[in-house]
Amino acid sequence: MSNDKPHAAGTVDAGETSERVGMAVLRERGLEPEVLREKLIDAIGAEFTTYYYYTNLRMHLAGHEDYKEITEDARLEDRAHFELVAPRVYELGGALPNDIREFADRASCPDAAVPVPMAGDGGFDTDSLSAEGILEVLLEAERCAIRTWSEICDMTHGVDPRTYDMAQRILQEEIEHEAWFVELLSMERDGEINPAGHFVRGEPGDAPLSTNRRFNDSA
Ligand SMILES: [Fe+2]
Ligand SMILES: [Fe+2]
Repeated sequence: MSNDKPHAAGTVDAGETSERVGMAVLRERGLEPEVLREKLIDAIGAEFTTYYYYTNLRMHLAGHEDYKEITEDARLEDRAHFELVAPRVYELGGALPNDIREFADRASCPDAAVPVPMAGDGGFDTDSLSAEGILEVLLEAERCAIRTWSEICDMTHGVDPRTYDMAQRILQEEIEHEAWFVELLSMERDGEINPAGHFVRGEPGDAPLSTNRRFNDSA
């Protein structure tokens, strides 16, 4: 009878809850699920912190409503990337750090901070702050994200279709984000036309490929 149902049982005992078949099948294919899981925590740490830092960057693009709008798309899509992958950490037997400082410190990309010091009166030293400087920070943050999700695509391709599907969706949007900031920085800094090839998202932060199923208006 069991020969008729080859997947009815495997290496995890029936009813066992301390192990997951969803992890065992990765191990059987040569991918350590714990290694992948920790890499995913690092990656979504960067998405989460970038979401925060882009808030500040967007605020300081005063006078450039078009730059602000595009930065807002990238900002909200980073939140979508965090939301998309966070459940996968738990499926792989992990958890987000309890301490947000630990989460930020282990992020796989540098802080996308406003590139001037704070002035001491609660604001930034805006005399030396320029749209060009902010766009450079945005561009390099997108490039780090492309490298991060490309690595995860490489780790999971042909091994873990679920994580690969998430990572490739995010990667596609990160590549779009890089193109946006290449276009804006090229014109702002160099006066060069360097098209992204895209037009604005339908709604701010649309995340056409990576967004979670929308459970409610806040998702
Ligand atoms: Fe992202
Ligand atoms: Fe991005």
